[in-house]
Amino acid sequence: MNETPGSPSVAENAGPAPKRLFIKTYGCQMNVYDSERMADVLRPLGYETTDTADGADFVILNTCHIREKAAEKVYSELGKLRELKDARAGNPAAPGNPMVIAVAGCVAQAEGEEIMRRQPAVDLVVGPQAYHQLPELLTRTARARGERIGADFAPHAKFDAMTSERIGPRGVTGPTAFLTVQEGCDKFCTFCVVPYTRGAEWSRPVADILTEARALAERGVREITLLGQNVNAFNGAGPDGTPSTLARLAHALAEIPGLARLRYTTSHPNDMSEDLIAAHGELDALMPYLHLPVQSGSDRILRLMNRKHGPKTYLDVIDRIRAVRPDIAISGDFIVGFPGETDRDFEDTLALVRQVNYASAFSFMYSPRPGTPAAAMAAQVPDAVARERLHALQTLLFEQQTAFNASQAGRTLPVLFERKGRNPGQAIGRSPYLQSVHVENGEHLLGQIVAVEIESGQQNSLAGRIVEQKAA
Ligand code: SAH
Ligand code: SF4
Ligand code: F3S
Repeated sequence: MNETPGSPSVAENAGPAPKRLFIKTYGCQMNVYDSERMADVLRPLGYETTDTADGADFVILNTCHIREKAAEKVYSELGKLRELKDARAGNPAAPGNPMVIAVAGCVAQAEGEEIMRRQPAVDLVVGPQAYHQLPELLTRTARARGERIGADFAPHAKFDAMTSERIGPRGVTGPTAFLTVQEGCDKFCTFCVVPYTRGAEWSRPVADILTEARALAERGVREITLLGQNVNAFNGAGPDGTPSTLARLAHALAEIPGLARLRYTTSHPNDMSEDLIAAHGELDALMPYLHLPVQSGSDRILRLMNRKHGPKTYLDVIDRIRAVRPDIAISGDFIVGFPGETDRDFEDTLALVRQVNYASAFSFMYSPRPGTPAAAMAAQVPDAVARERLHALQTLLFEQQTAFNASQAGRTLPVLFERKGRNPGQAIGRSPYLQSVHVENGEHLLGQIVAVEIESGQQNSLAGRIVEQKAA
């Protein structure tokens, strides 16, 4: 299982000097996971990752198409890369060894041809379902430019090839890891490109997920975040071949020795099933944090968005989950300025936010995306109005977040330490509620879960002191 199928076999200690690979990742956690797996499939070819495009042999931009700004960033980055590529082509020290530039991710999927047309420096455009083909594509680009590989592969082929390196002996990780269990979306919210860029909903088989999770735990991973565009619609085949649920998967994962914490994101309110809600009351490993986007508090706007739920359904889910896990931290996503949104609709959003009382949230100005139904709707909201609403919404959300963080002062929380802080000795970890927690003199605790007394909470983080070092 350690070789990537289809890739030329390159012995670990033999062969030429390592080639440098630079991957820049935009967008959601699923892209972060995919970028790590792309690095994995390229490692057997001799590619080692670097943190700058300067001097890299192969550059991959793993892109996001969700809002216009995200997509446009790609073209400005490509302009800069072109200069590096040209400079290298003119460098007599590297003759016949040009920089290879690939565009991956959701922009690649949505507008591959346009990328090729707008930026001739691009050698390769590769959609999210074809990353396992990278080694082969790379050898082909040496001969022919302009290949565009799309989403017409079965997702399991990608996962089978891409995770074999991760579960092999050379896989490297820290104490936390992402694990994609579901991809794609069938919901077709009228503002959203994801169903077009990531294709239909598909879930990985439970056995494959457990194998990957066990390998991670053996390497010291204490916390796994299960990923999917609609992760709670997970229905991967269970051991007997029948569809499982996210709750059953979480129960199985919680049995893995060493795995202390589980999270999942992103969920849709209509897929918060009874058993998943119940799992929050049953499983200690399932962290008391739920990211549940609602987008708007207005019934009318939610209908125009094709969300297939109203504010009442959403609030009802929140009530049910708080009944089994009263301390759960709720997070959400919001869009302001959706076509036709009135002041009254926006007031409904503010009212919903007040009712839920969020621990954290993401909010965005509506961005019309080509090919989506909402982009063609009349009554687009002027930018200035949307900006004002965003400001009002964010002011309220930040107030709630700051109050939630401040309310932790005096409590003792288990913190999983993930990395060093800026000052010597400082360590940064996460509380069960996904808050960043800073402590002094904690550098030796990386990878461990330790009891921390919280001394203060600000808008974006908590500060505390170590009170007890649990056996990790
Ligand atoms: N699958 C998740 C999240 C998908 S994208 C869900 O169902 O919620 C992440 C967030 O980006 C969305 O929740 C939404 O708030 C925001 N978003 C998506 N399309 C957008 C658009 N066209 N303009 C502004 N924000 C958008
Ligand atoms: Fe986009 Fe809606 Fe699917 Fe989320 S549920 S990915 S917002 S279409
Ligand atoms: Fe962006 Fe694609 Fe993720 S559009 S948010 S990278 S699924």
